[in-house]
Amino acid sequence: MATYKTLPGFRDFYPEDCSLRNHLFNVWRQTSKRFGFQEYDGPVLESLELLTAKSGEEIVGQLFNFEDKGGRQVTLRPELTPTLARMVGAKANALPRPVKWFSIGENFRYERQQKGRLRSFYQFNADILGESGVIADAEVIGLLVESLCNQGLRAGEFVVRLSDRNLWYYFIESLGFTGEQAMGALGVIDKMERVPAEKSQAALAELGAKDPAATLKAISDFQELPDVCTIKAYLTNMDLEESARDKLLARLDVWRELLSLLIAAGLENFIKIDLRIVRGLAYYTGFVFEAFQTVGKGRALAGGGRYDDLIEKLGGAPMPAVGFGMGDVTLRDLLEEVDRLPKLIDKADIYLVYSGDDAFKTALADAYALRRQGLRAELNYKGAGMGKQFKQAASSGADFALVYGPDELAKGIVTVKHMRSGEQQEVPATQLVGSVLALWREG
Ligand code: HAM
Repeated sequence: MATYKTLPGFRDFYPEDCSLRNHLFNVWRQTSKRFGFQEYDGPVLESLELLTAKSGEEIVGQLFNFEDKGGRQVTLRPELTPTLARMVGAKANALPRPVKWFSIGENFRYERQQKGRLRSFYQFNADILGESGVIADAEVIGLLVESLCNQGLRAGEFVVRLSDRNLWYYFIESLGFTGEQAMGALGVIDKMERVPAEKSQAALAELGAKDPAATLKAISDFQELPDVCTIKAYLTNMDLEESARDKLLARLDVWRELLSLLIAAGLENFIKIDLRIVRGLAYYTGFVFEAFQTVGKGRALAGGGRYDDLIEKLGGAPMPAVGFGMGDVTLRDLLEEVDRLPKLIDKADIYLVYSGDDAFKTALADAYALRRQGLRAELNYKGAGMGKQFKQAASSGADFALVYGPDELAKGIVTVKHMRSGEQQEVPATQLVGSVLALWREG
């Protein structure tokens, strides 16, 4: 017989996986609400153009795109940021600022399947739009950190690597790259951690670097600078035009401002300045960051940054923006690795045990009455022996079993058994719902 499997990179969610997924989503939701974010959503299918317009090559090569039956070029969404930019751009004047929105949804990327990377994954996105001050960067980084902590992770198990495309842009400019070339150079820097040095050098040469080896060396040295003081000293000593140096040093003042807010929020143990991060998506304009696990395989848990031009470029009013996306796949793997996946208890409240057809109907009516009061009430569908039903009551995790045996029926009562203590009491059948609710509330 033919067996059908999920497509590569797609997952079935059996009930335990679904409860766990819901739990992760609930924590994301609760944490976002504590920061005053509102939930929104967009369509999973978008026009191809929206996604190809401004996200850059990396993501364009990973699209699940096709032509729909109306001849439109469409794609499943690989990320939510262009959708958000469109939505906010369309109503920019009507929305009170700052816009603080979050969303949890399924995204699709046609990637080579590997541990931590799937073709369908869920992503939690949180963004602040309409606020250009570093308080917005600090708040989204704060929400990122707090949501990982609320998922059960601790300082030392993950770190947010903080970098800056502005600083990089000014630095690249001082090395002689401008416009498109500078964007190309940022792309090379983004990949430097993953490709051999000769390849990076060749790519810089292709972009027009006069002395590719010296350029690569300057970039590699700059990447390693660990803090603002060292960056300042490096820039002060570097052979630079005065105007270029001033621009770079002025940017370091913005860095200090951001860092002071992160420190005030008590987040310093979670942040590491790391100029190796530049991010693969082309729309980022300022501070960028990625959260990585620091135990086990060191995979990325989340990534984000500032994208002040995207809304305008997609046809909306000019509006600064900053945010991040966090995936469910690496987060779940990491929680499993550090043995901190919650033990989710999926249990019944009440189990009804009966004997015979008449008792079944009475029990069924009571089960509905209890369900209407908000209790989870279950019973066997096939009239199994009472012994078997008691076993099922025990394995259902119910707090109480209600017994509808021949004696109970004859006396017009129901026996209510407290499953943990084994204590029993008889309740008049006519007062069953009120009595059970009162007992259940007592525990
Ligand atoms: P991203 O870095 O492409 O950023 O994705 C963010 C996170 O989504 C990653 O760190 C990872 O946890 C998860 N993720 C991405 N691709 C996959 C995959 N194939 N399988 C499993 N998980 C994956 C963005 O998407 C930006 N739009 C985030 C953003 C929001 N920037 C500003 N606002």
